[in-house]
Amino acid sequence: MKGIILAGGSATRLYPLTRVINKHLLPIGSVPMVYYPIARLLEAGIQDILIISGPSDMGQFAELLGDGDLVGAKLTYKVQTRPGGTAQALGLAREFVGKEPCVMALGDNFFAEPVRDALAPFLSSQRGAHMVLKRVDDARRYGVAEVSNDGRTITSLEEKPANPKSNLAVTGLYAYDATVFDIIDRTKAARSGEIEITSVNAEYMSRGELRFAEYSGEWIDAGTIDSYHKANRMALERPLPAVLEPLFTPPPRK
Ligand code: DAU
Repeated sequence: MKGIILAGGSATRLYPLTRVINKHLLPIGSVPMVYYPIARLLEAGIQDILIISGPSDMGQFAELLGDGDLVGAKLTYKVQTRPGGTAQALGLAREFVGKEPCVMALGDNFFAEPVRDALAPFLSSQRGAHMVLKRVDDARRYGVAEVSNDGRTITSLEEKPANPKSNLAVTGLYAYDATVFDIIDRTKAARSGEIEITSVNAEYMSRGELRFAEYSGEWIDAGTIDSYHKANRMALERPLPAVLEPLFTPPPRK
């Protein structure tokens, strides 16, 4: 199973913080933000991870994360030349993923607790697509899923709807079988001009191959200034994921 972390985009909602610093390099608690999705993937048993970001920031990611060895990850990097959307970014992972299933994490999503349980149904079946949902107060900010009365199937998916049909937000954690890349190839850009992951998930839904789990922990999309600070407070109130502890060992003296 391969992991993919999206760490590109333009992050204008965090200007001026992100004018010269990539959002995913800003701190969350005591570590750069990108370490959280890395930690959550590692805890779920996924070590082989592709980091996707823009050309001007890639060098900093490589400098910070290296080959990932320090935390037990095996990292690869891929440049997204312009922010063409979350699904367009995932499409760049085709060669890296090959015929394996994969889990994609949006790099600005802060999951306060491990995500293994929320991914478990996919980790065993490895078929179709799987989303992680979370009940929220203001669903208009997110992708929103409507679930059938028996709670088993997703009946509609909308990206940032003005009138959400439920309070179930789609978090930035998804799992796919290898057919996802053919689906991305056929997916048209949304009104935003971006190829959005919601369109890809909607295709799996229409095939009856989209499953989901609700996340039991706290979740924050740290893409706005308020939510960014909330994520920081939450991170500082909790123990650091144990897999990240080696980061605090000073390098040996030369
Ligand atoms: O956070 C959850 C939400 O994330 C979902 O509920 C939405 O359905 C999903 O579309 C997404 O919405 P956002 O508006 O938060 O997406 P955003 O454009 O901010 O990008 C999400 C992450 O992906 C962020 O870490 C930056 C990265 N990204 C984004 C784009 C558009 C890239 O690496 N490349 C890109 O081209």
